[in-house]
Amino acid sequence: MTGNVELIIDGRTLNLPTTVGSEGEVGIDIATLRNQTGCITLDPGYGNTGSCESAITFIDGETGILRYRGYDISELAEKSTFIETAYLLIYGELPTRPQLAEFSELLSENQMLHEDMRHLFNGFPPTAHPMAILSAMINAASSYHPNIINKREERFPWHAARLISQVRTIAAYSYRKAHGLPTIYPKTNLKYTANFLHMMFSHPGEDCELKPEIVKALDLIFLLHADHEQNCSTSTVRMVASSRANLFASASAGVCALWGPLHGGANQAVLEMLEEIHSEGDDGSKFLNEVKNKVGNRRLMGFGHRVYKNFDPRAVIIKQQCDKVLGQLHKSDPLLDIAKKLEEIALHDDYFISRKLYPNVDFYSGIIMRAIGIPMDMFTVMFAIGRMPGWIANYKEVMEDPDSRIARPRQIYTGATRRTYQPLDARV
Ligand code: CMC
Repeated sequence: MTGNVELIIDGRTLNLPTTVGSEGEVGIDIATLRNQTGCITLDPGYGNTGSCESAITFIDGETGILRYRGYDISELAEKSTFIETAYLLIYGELPTRPQLAEFSELLSENQMLHEDMRHLFNGFPPTAHPMAILSAMINAASSYHPNIINKREERFPWHAARLISQVRTIAAYSYRKAHGLPTIYPKTNLKYTANFLHMMFSHPGEDCELKPEIVKALDLIFLLHADHEQNCSTSTVRMVASSRANLFASASAGVCALWGPLHGGANQAVLEMLEEIHSEGDDGSKFLNEVKNKVGNRRLMGFGHRVYKNFDPRAVIIKQQCDKVLGQLHKSDPLLDIAKKLEEIALHDDYFISRKLYPNVDFYSGIIMRAIGIPMDMFTVMFAIGRMPGWIANYKEVMEDPDSRIARPRQIYTGATRRTYQPLDARV
């Protein structure tokens, strides 16, 4: 749907076209603003800038709604699997039985890394963060499949499947490498998430026990992370894709963007924060006072979101899952008690209420991952595995858009105006 708005700038009335989304969101198309007025818009952090039209994911941050391709996240979390959801995100519809079988077969066919890639893992020092390994290896994987660069459109289903499948293999290998453990190859008879746990925790000659409740909990974590509209890493993937870089290069850039503690790295930062609070014998109140007084610019990690100003629907599902998994595994975790206490205080505290800060997806996910044995430095890698279908779906959308242009924002220059070059000896 389209329309027009009038914008008055310096007494001049401009007639600008608008685009209205299927959920009623209105975007003012300012593409001609600079030509007509000489002005550009300035929106640091892009809080008020729509970078694209997209049919993949809908979020209403005011009411806490998240839908993938029209399906509510809570319904998918209850009824779907990560792989079915991945198909939905990439191809737009839930798969039929034959489509799901074909997609699963493609994933299995593509799960092995080129054997030479094992040498590359050996080049990383033992201290390397798995996110550094992940982004480097995803990019490296494209070198072994030249048609990722040529013939990329016609081979897209293979490349998409290869990336979803291999990101999991790379992640497990990087964990084994970091811990000095022998590599475990994927098995064709295991489903996606079970296969990942097998590669992480089996030993040569001794397969790990794959408890259904653990497989299900991790599959749910992947599903809840599968897409989230134009966040920092997805926008990065779209930006790189807009230059027509290949799928693997674009996804590798997404991994780098995700790594930061204000984005996907928050799940690791939450656990580090909870451990610190626990080691100091604090119940969370002292820490929250420091946050509110901005001591050292500390933040309550796992709280707040640019878009959600009510609650993050993923956090609600993860919190319930957290209690369930710890119950099923007959485990208790003092860090969960601290997290609940922090949440309880924060939700009744004016600092957090007035700023509309609520728990986000990362607040409880680390506690589940810790309970199922995933080491802390792999938490953000889990997020990356989960987010891969969303990145791929967004990459596909960019590539298939006939109007797509290279992303190239402008700036307001604030540096020195023209000056004359001074020879070295004349400089003071
Ligand atoms: N703890 C304490 N204060 C906070 C927090 C927090 N977690 N988040 C925001 N604030 C305060 C901030 O200090 C500012 O206060 P003031 O108005 O006094 O200066 C106000 O709230 C607005 O903050 P902002 O930084 O302008 O908000 P933003 O929309 O730019 O940032 C955010 C969003 C998610 C980066 C931020 O809330 C944050 O740093 N949260 C902690 C990190 C985190 O959990 N990140 C995961 C996000 S969800 C998963 C994902 O999508 O990656």
